[in-house]
Amino acid sequence: MELQSQFLCRLFCVFVFIILSANAAAPVTAGGWNEIPDVINNTHVQDLGMFAVLAYNNSTASSLFFYAVFQAQAQIAEGLNVRMVIQALESELPKMYKAYVWEKPWENFKNLTFFEPVLV
Ligand SMILES: *[C@@H]1O[C@H](CO)[C@@H](O)[C@H](O)[C@H]1NC(C)=O
Ligand SMILES: *[C@@H]1O[C@H](CO)[C@@H](O)[C@H](O)[C@H]1NC(C)=O
Ligand SMILES: *[C@@H]1O[C@H](CO)[C@@H](O)[C@H](O)[C@H]1NC(C)=O
Ligand SMILES: *[C@@H]1O[C@H](CO)[C@@H](O)[C@H](O)[C@H]1NC(C)=O
Repeated sequence: MELQSQFLCRLFCVFVFIILSANAAAPVTAGGWNEIPDVINNTHVQDLGMFAVLAYNNSTASSLFFYAVFQAQAQIAEGLNVRMVIQALESELPKMYKAYVWEKPWENFKNLTFFEPVLV
């Protein structure tokens, strides 16, 4: 890794620690899924939810309207794997979706790897 990416990677680790560590009940474990606390107020997670809906919208020619991320968990995996429960409007009806986004912030890389309606 180049020096700059190493530096950004370290910043990223601090960032991961900050978003996850507020949840004292669930200590951060590599490989495991960690609940991200207070997602409604977490702008980074809300941005990831928006990204997921836009990417899905774009790749499927559907027209979902992002509303909010209600729940999110993160897993450290060469970056961060974030799984979210997202509410979006489809033809003005609110629906829940489950999405996985894989991100490597120091490379400015994000990929939607999974997006499906949650059946209720
Ligand atoms: C989110 O932020 C608002 C104001 O910024 C605050 O009133 C609210 O209590 C926060 N929600 C949580 C779950 O902390
Ligand atoms: C939307 O999808 C097209 C291909 O279907 C792609 O070329 C384009 O970059 C995408 N735009 C965004 C914002 O993801
Ligand atoms: C999704 O795509 C449709 C058109 O394909 C667009 O009208 C709609 O605004 C898009 N939704 C979002 C959240 O960008
Ligand atoms: C992004 O995720 C999709 C779906 O899993 C996969 O097909 C694609 O190869 C991924 N792109 C990158 C650059 O990893």
